[in-house]
This record gives sequence, structure tokens and C-alpha cells, in this order.
Amino acid sequence: MSARLSLALSGGSVILPDTGRIVLLRPPADLDLDGLPLDRVAAEHGFCPDHDALSARGVAVSPQQAGPAAAVVVFAARAKALTLDLLARGFAMVGPGGPLIVDGAKSEGIDSLLKTLRKVCAVGEVYSKAHGKCFAVTAPAAVPAGWAAVPGRVDGFVTTAGVFSADGIDPGSALLAGHLGAVSGKVCDLGAGWGYLATRILASDKVRQVALVEAEHAALDCARANVTDARATFHWADATTWTGGPFDYVVTNPPFHTSRKADPALGRAFVQAAARLLSPRGRLLMVANRHLPYEATLAEVFAESVVRADVSGYKVIEATRPKRRQP
Ligand SMILES: C[S@@+](CC[C@H](N)C(=O)[O-])C[C@H]1O[C@@H](n2cnc3c(N)ncnc32)[C@H](O)[C@@H]1O
Repeated sequence: MSARLSLALSGGSVILPDTGRIVLLRPPADLDLDGLPLDRVAAEHGFCPDHDALSARGVAVSPQQAGPAAAVVVFAARAKALTLDLLARGFAMVGPGGPLIVDGAKSEGIDSLLKTLRKVCAVGEVYSKAHGKCFAVTAPAAVPAGWAAVPGRVDGFVTTAGVFSADGIDPGSALLAGHLGAVSGKVCDLGAGWGYLATRILASDKVRQVALVEAEHAALDCARANVTDARATFHWADATTWTGGPFDYVVTNPPFHTSRKADPALGRAFVQAAARLLSPRGRLLMVANRHLPYEATLAEVFAESVVRADVSGYKVIEATRPKRRQP
């Protein structure tokens, strides 16, 4: 349970106004809700599994919040550019001089963020707990230049702050793109990001449909700009529980971390989801960092898998004959 904010509130290190809307930007799914007036709270979370978990806990949450707020709480994200964008939007919501609270872990760069904020606005008492910090700031007269994310073009594609491989095509995906020649029929791009693989899949006229499944709302927005082919459909969803298909092909460069640490469990869940989404004759094509251990999971849910390429630290794997689960 992420309790730093509720502890800072109960100890008086940070204070929320008695009236008005309180916006939480990207709160952790396991946020301790003690001390938060839930009837006045509006949360924003663009990552579908966290959005759904907060909603199930009774928090009013949507992938995007706008409009004025009496106070905003910004939860630092792993990507600094995303945190700065959240701060820029938070400052705009409360207006110059308005109250904003920042909460974050050391691993999310809260110490350097605090230094940055001290240069642009007044900072209140700093509450330190659980390898992180929580503090109040007063919104500056103007949002510092360059903090608000502006979707830009890299390698000819629209990307934005905080999405996977925002600064260009991922080398693993580029490798996988060279192995899409046989892909045809109904295809699912699982964890589609800003749509690079989908554009490459759609280069073939043997492909009838591509379903882009992606949990990050901002990434899917970029994908909509990048993939304008009428055969594409877009799904903001948790790939590990999404029900669609059946598909002739699942193509994926699965995510391999949920926090700063590599965590192959999420990638394994993608492999399991792929087997579930495929037709009996369907095929999985995936790329992964060579050191990530997916073999056991592949053997559990597919009758056959073959390494098609092993280059520069990446392997491309093709798996066939998904095993049917017993009811
Ligand atoms: C390694 S990236 C690949 C992105 C894109 N296919 C590419 O090649 O650039 C994995 C993607 O999976 C997304 N993702 C992470 N967890 C997810 C989940 N549970 N459901 C759906 N997508 C998820 C991430 O946001 C990220 O865009």
C-alpha cells in the first residue's frame, strides 16, 4: 500500500483544501486512500490496469482529466518528461499561486525533481518516508517552458512523453518487423505502443485486420495518429485480460517491467494471452531481450516454438499450435 501521502496528510506536512475538486494525476493503484475526501476526488490514470484497479476501489477515475481544481496531487512517474508534463498540467489546473502536492519515490527521481521545483516555485515542508518524499508547492506565475509535453515526430512517427521508445523505433521491434512476411488474415498487435509494428504489419495486403491493444492511453492516441489504415482497430485495454479474436497471428514486443526492475512476469502473461487469443492454427511472433526467460511459458501454452533470429541481444520467436486450456 502506498501510504506516504496519507501519512503526510495525517501529520499535517501537506494539507488539502476543505472545499473544491481535488485532482490526482497518475496515482498508484495501491494508493492508501485514508485522509482523501473521495467525494471530491477526480483521479486521472492513463494506464488501463491501474485505472481499472482504482475504479474498482471506488475512486472516480478517467484516462484524462481537465478543468480547474482546488488542489492537484502529482505522483511522479518513471519518465521525467511525463512527470514534468503532469506538473505543467497540474499547475494549469490550480492556476498561479494554487496548491499542488508532489509525491514520489527516490527510484522515480523525486530528489532531483525537488531540486528542480525549488528553482521555479515555493516548496513547503518535505515529508520523507519509504524511500520517497511528499511535499506541497505553490504553482508558479507561468508554467516553465518545455514542461508541457508536445507530441512530436521521430522517425516519421508521432510519439509523446512517457510512452515506450518515445525517441524512436525500438531496435527489437525493428528486428521483428523483418520477420512479418508470412503474416496474414486477422492480426493482433499486443502492447501496440505508438503503432510502429502495426504500420509494418499493415504494409501487407494479405492482412485483413489489425487490432492494436495497448494499455497506455497516450500511446494509443499516438497510434491513432500513426496508423490511419481502415483495417486497424484500437483497444485501450489490459492485454493480459482482453478478450478478442480469434486471430490468425499475434505479433508482440511484450513489456518487460512493471516498475524500474525487469519483471518477466508481465511478458509471460502476454505469451499466455497470445495463446488464448489465437485460433487453433494461429501463430505468435514475438521479440524479446535474449536474457528474458520465456521458454518455459512458451512450452506451457504452445506445442511448438522456434527461435527465428538471435541478433544483437534480441531473439525473434515464432510459436505455433496454442494449447487449449481444459474448461
Ligand atoms: C516493449 S513495448 C512495445 C511497443 C510497440 N509494440 C513497439 O514495438 O514499439 C510494450 C508495450 O506494452 C504496453 N503495455 C504494458 N503493459 C500492458 C498491458 N497490461 N496491456 C497492454 N499493453 C501493455 C506498454 O505501454 C508498451 O507500449
